[in-house]
Amino acid sequence: MCGIIGAIAQRDVVEILLEGLRRLEYRGYDSAGLAVVDNQGHMIRLRRLGKVNKLIEAVNNQTLHGSIGIAHTRWATHGEPSEINAHPQISENIIVVHNGIIENYKLLRKQLINKGYDFFSETDTEVVAHLVHWEQMQGGTLCEVVKRVILQVQGSYSLVIMDKRDTSILIAARSNSPLVIGCGVGENFIASDLLALLPVTRRFIYLEEGDIAEVTRRDIIIINQNGQLVKRTEIESNVEYDASNKGTYRHYIKKEIYEQPTAIRNTLTGCLKQGKILLNELNSHAETILKKIDHIQIIACGTSYHAGMVSRYWFESLAKIPCDIEIASEFRYRKSIVRKNSLLITLSQSGETADTLASLRLAKKLNYLGYLSICNVQASSLVRESDWSLITKAGIEIGVASTKAFTTQLTILLILVVKIGCLHNNIPMEIEFEIIRALQSLPNSIEQILKKDHIFKKLAEDFSNKNHVLFLGRGNQYPIAMEGALKLKEISYIHAEAYAAGELKHGPLALIDADMPVIVIAPNNELLEKLKSNIEEVRARGASLYVFADQYAGFSNSDGMKIISLPHVDEITAPIFYTIPLQLLSYNVALIKGTDVDQPRNLAKSVTVE
Ligand code: M6R
Repeated sequence: MCGIIGAIAQRDVVEILLEGLRRLEYRGYDSAGLAVVDNQGHMIRLRRLGKVNKLIEAVNNQTLHGSIGIAHTRWATHGEPSEINAHPQISENIIVVHNGIIENYKLLRKQLINKGYDFFSETDTEVVAHLVHWEQMQGGTLCEVVKRVILQVQGSYSLVIMDKRDTSILIAARSNSPLVIGCGVGENFIASDLLALLPVTRRFIYLEEGDIAEVTRRDIIIINQNGQLVKRTEIESNVEYDASNKGTYRHYIKKEIYEQPTAIRNTLTGCLKQGKILLNELNSHAETILKKIDHIQIIACGTSYHAGMVSRYWFESLAKIPCDIEIASEFRYRKSIVRKNSLLITLSQSGETADTLASLRLAKKLNYLGYLSICNVQASSLVRESDWSLITKAGIEIGVASTKAFTTQLTILLILVVKIGCLHNNIPMEIEFEIIRALQSLPNSIEQILKKDHIFKKLAEDFSNKNHVLFLGRGNQYPIAMEGALKLKEISYIHAEAYAAGELKHGPLALIDADMPVIVIAPNNELLEKLKSNIEEVRARGASLYVFADQYAGFSNSDGMKIISLPHVDEITAPIFYTIPLQLLSYNVALIKGTDVDQPRNLAKSVTVE
C-alpha cells in the first residue's frame, strides 16, 4: 500500500508529482505529501492529512517549483494518519518516501536515538531517513550509502531517496514492493505503478527484487541484490488510463458495475474463437503440464479468493480435478504438503498483493508442476513471476471494492476449467459447447438486470438502518454470498456475514431476530429444495428474508419474505450473474448511508503490505 513517485527533470515536476499521486491514490489515501528542491537548492516539503486533494489545495496556495522531487500517498502502517507521520520523512538533507514495512525499525530507532537522532514521527520511514543520513556521514556516494542501509533493514519496502544537496540524482530501492522507472528524454521518473507515469512516458523498466537504481536525468543505473550492474528490460506500455473519467457515473464503482457486460465480452473475445476455447497464453509446454496435473491449488485474497472458491466447485464437478483453495496470508506461513502433480494458480486483480506474491514465491520453492496466474494487470509482479498468465480484460478498476475484476476472473476461470476438463477428456464436446453458449449469453442477462437498478435502490431502504446482515447460499453460491457480504461491509460499513445455508442451524441461527435481515441467493438448481428448507428454518424464527430468486424457482412474496425475482440464467453461469444484484444492493445502501463508496475508510485498492 502507499503510492510513491519521484521525478528528475529540467522542467518543473510539481504537477507531474501531483498527477501521479492522484493516480496512485487507490493505494492509500489517509495522508499525502511531497518535497521538491528548486534550482537554488531550497527544499520545500508539504504534507496534509486526508486525501491527495487536500495536498493539492495546499500546493495551490503557495509558489512551489522544483525540477527534482518525491511524493507519497499513505495507507498508515506505523503511526496514525497525521501530518507528522505523512511522508516524505526527513533527516537533515535526506528526504525519503517509502511503501512497505521496516520490520526491525524499533531496534534501529533505539540505535539511532543512541547516536543522537531525534524522532518526530512514529513511522518506520523516519528510521530509514536517519539511517541514510548516518551512513552518509560515514562516507560514499548516495547509492553506496543506500546499499549499506539496505543491508541493515528487514522487511518489505520500496524507497525513493533524495539528497537536497545533490539535485542530480534520485535513488530507488525495491524489496517486496513494486517499483517502476519511467524513462523520459532528458528526464526520468520512479513510481509504485506505471499508471502514475503515463502522462509523461510510455517506456518503463520494472525493478526486480533487491534492485537499487541510481536515476539521473539522462541515466538509469541498476545494481542487483548481489551488487552487480544489471540491465533490466525496457517495455513499452499501451495501457489507457484517464483517472478523472467517470463518464456519466457519480462513482467509479457504479461505472465499473455497469462495465461488466463489456468486460466479460472482452474477456471472452480473448479466449474464444469460433465457439472454441483458445487460450493463446497457454503454450504447448503449458498444455503438456495441464494434461499431467492431478490436483490444483488456488491461492488468493479477498474478492479474488471468493472467485477461486467458486472455481473449486467447477474444477471438481466439471473437469474432475481435485482442487483446494487457501487464503494467501495463511498459505504463506503454513507448512503445506504439496499434492502429487499439482498446479498452483494465483488469482489477483492487481497482481501486487503482498500475501499472494509471497505465496507464489514460497510455492516456487516447492514441488508444483507449474505456476499459473490469473490477473487483471499484465505488467504486474505476479504475472512477471508466473510461468503462465491469463489476463482478465476488465480494464483498469479504480473503485477499491472489486466488481468487474471478480466477474471477469470467474469468466476466465470457467474457460480454464473447460480447457483443463477437455485436456483430461472429462468434458464432452456438447458440455463444452453448452458452457461456451452460456458464457456468451451472460452479458445480455447482466444487461437486463443492470436496467433494474430502481429495484435495488428501493430495496436498499430496508437495509440502510441495519447494523447486521446475514447472507446465505449453497454450493457454488456460497462464495457468492461471501462476496455479497464483503461488498456490503466494504462500502456501506454494515456488518455482514455469509453462511452456507445448511450450516446455519449449527450456531448462527441464534443470531436471528427481526433486526437481522437475511439475504438468500436462490437460483433454480439441484440444491433449491434443500435451500427452501433452510429458508423455512430461518423464517420460523422471525427473520426478515430477502430472497434473490430465479423467476422459476417457485417463490412468492409472503409475510417476512420479500422475493427479488431475477431472470432465469444457465446454472453454470449463475454464480457470475447473481453477483450483480448483490453489488447493486450494496452500492445503493452505501449511497443512502453517504459513505465514501470509491475509497472506503481504512482500505486501499492494492494491499502491498502483509
Ligand atoms: O488485487 P487482488 O485481487 O489480489 O486483491 C485482493 C484483495 O485485497 C481485494 O480483493 C479486496 O478484498 C477488495 N477490496 C475486495 O473488494
